[in-house]
Amino acid sequence: MATVKHASRWYPLEPEESVLDGLLRQGVAVPHACRAGACQSCLMRATSGDVPEAARVSLKDTLRAQGYFLACMCRPSADAVLEVSGADALRVPARIASLDLLSPSVLRVRLSTDAPLDYRAGQYVSLLRADGLARSYSLASLPREGLLELHVRLVAGGEMSGWLAREARVGDAVSVQGPAGSCFYVEGRPEQSLILAGAGTGLAPLYGIARDALEAGHQGPLWLFHGARTPEGLYLTRELRELAEQYAGFHYRPSVLTGGSRDVSEGALDAVIRAECPKPVGFRAWLCGDADLVLSLRKKLFLSGLSLKDLHADVFLPSTPRVEAVGAR
Ligand code: FES
Repeated sequence: MATVKHASRWYPLEPEESVLDGLLRQGVAVPHACRAGACQSCLMRATSGDVPEAARVSLKDTLRAQGYFLACMCRPSADAVLEVSGADALRVPARIASLDLLSPSVLRVRLSTDAPLDYRAGQYVSLLRADGLARSYSLASLPREGLLELHVRLVAGGEMSGWLAREARVGDAVSVQGPAGSCFYVEGRPEQSLILAGAGTGLAPLYGIARDALEAGHQGPLWLFHGARTPEGLYLTRELRELAEQYAGFHYRPSVLTGGSRDVSEGALDAVIRAECPKPVGFRAWLCGDADLVLSLRKKLFLSGLSLKDLHADVFLPSTPRVEAVGAR
C-alpha cells in the first residue's frame, strides 16, 4: 500500500488512488479544481520518494527540478513512500480590488497582488480562497495595467463563483498561483491575419490577447468573434467597439444563436467566422471556451486551410464534482 507523509502525518492510499483523492478522503485540505491535470491548482512538492512521470510531464522544467507534481495525476506504485508539502512558495498573496457584473452571468474580478506577477495576457492563474478552495481563470488584463482581471462565469451551485458573487468583498484576502498556459500572442509575424474566437467567458483570454497584439503593433487584420446564446450573454461590447474605432485592423464580430440585430449576427459561431474569413490559409487563430465548441472550431478551421501549428486552443474544463469551468473558466 502506498503511503504519503504530509505535515508530519502518514496517510495510506487505496490501490490506484491519487495523492489528491487520498489526502482529501482523509480530511487534508488540498487546493484543486479540474482533477484532470489541466489547471495546476493541485500542485504539491515531493521532498522524498519517487513521483510517477505522469504527474510531472506537463510541468515546466523549473517546477519539475524543484520536485513539484500534480497531486490529481499522481498514483504512486503500491509500495511507494512519499513525503510531500504544499505549493505555498508558488502562491502570491492578493486582495480583491473590485467586483462588478459584466453581464447577468459574468462577474469581473480584479485583484491586486502583493508582488508583480510575470504573465502574458491569455494565460491563466489559479485563484485560491483562504480555505484552499481553488479555481482557474484566464487573465483578461495586460501586465502594465497592474490589477489582474478575471471573468468569472456565475454557475448555479458553483462554490467559487457563488462565493465571489454573494459573499466576497473588496479587500478580502485570496492568493494567486501561476501563470500557466501557452495561449497568448507571440510577436514576430506582424502582417499575419489573426482570428480570435470564443463563447461565454472564453472572451476573457481573447480580450487580453487582442489588446496585447494591438499594443505590440500587430499590423495584419485581427478578427475577434464572440458568441453567446442570446444578446444578454455578450459583454464588453462597448469596449470592443471602441477598440475597433481606435484600430483600423481590428474587427469585432459579436454573434448569438437567437435574437440577432443590426449589430449582432445571428447563427452558429463557425458560420459567422466562415462568412468573414472563408479561406483562412496562413492565418493564426486562438480558440477559447468549452471543449465541444473549441474542438469543433479547431477542426473546421483546419479543414478550411489553417495550419495546425497556427491553431492555439484553450479548452475550459469543468471542475469536479461541481460544474464550474477552468480558465475563466
Ligand atoms: S491539475 Fe490537478 S486539480 Fe487541476
